[in-house]
Amino acid sequence: RHRPRPSRCWGHCGQALTASPPLPTAGKTPEDVVRRYIQKVKNPPDEDCTICMERLVTSSGYEGVLSHRGIKPELVGKLGKCGHMYHLLCLLAMYNNGNKDGSLQCPTCKAIYGEKTGTQPPGKMEFHLIPHSLPGYTDSKTIRIVYDIPTGIQHPNPGKKFTARGFPRHCYLPDNEKGRKVLKLLIVAWDRRLIFTIGTSNTTGESDTVVWNEIHHKTEFGSNLTGHGYPDPNYLDNVLAELLAQGVSEATLKD
Ligand code: APR
Ligand code: ZN
Repeated sequence: RHRPRPSRCWGHCGQALTASPPLPTAGKTPEDVVRRYIQKVKNPPDEDCTICMERLVTSSGYEGVLSHRGIKPELVGKLGKCGHMYHLLCLLAMYNNGNKDGSLQCPTCKAIYGEKTGTQPPGKMEFHLIPHSLPGYTDSKTIRIVYDIPTGIQHPNPGKKFTARGFPRHCYLPDNEKGRKVLKLLIVAWDRRLIFTIGTSNTTGESDTVVWNEIHHKTEFGSNLTGHGYPDPNYLDNVLAELLAQGVSEATLKD
């Protein structure tokens, strides 16, 4: 097993920007992770568990499917912040089906518990300043981000190859206060492997390929023929909301 060699930003910061695999959740079993974010519910309401579609007052639909150490199929838990309820075993099945990074996301309201990471394959993120203005930001220079991801082998789907089309991909932000904030948050999102994922491209229909995840980028510089260009006065606010939905917020930058 060889790790990708770290690459440094050739913009101003000199930071290492190569994505690395998620940190192992040392000593934490999937059962520990699920238990950390829930409170047990003694008398569940007469509602469905939206993971298995069975009623909460009956056993989890995953009974017998999972080997469950110490989790009884009738146990119900309530997620701490949002309060949505599921069978513990159903949450465990959902967690085990993901990338097991120590975080949980409520399937109903998308509230995040812990630090969400994604499945972006290894690659490079770089950025630099270019001395031109974007339509709509005539007083600012422009930040260009360059993402490069080579073809490789999938980890969650061992041995299966993935393609990577259209790389390096160039993206643009205005070099103003909000644009620089977005850049910082995109770097956090990159480190958490949230910018790209491997899946089926909506544009080309190709499967097992590197595609944008749920954080929009502006890939067109001086025009907006694709809808992924400028001017777009709402873009910075929209992308901040998309970052927040992935658990990447300004609060992250203060830590
Ligand atoms: N630029 C930026 N974002 C795009 C583009 C584009 N040209 N095309 C699609 N998207 C957005 C979509 O709006 C959607 O939200 O990316 C998300 C995933 O769309 P897919 O088509 O599945 O993504 P992907 O195959 O990665 O990208 C399509 O984007 O950067 C270009 O070179 C890339 O031509 C490719 C295109
Ligand atoms: Zn259930």
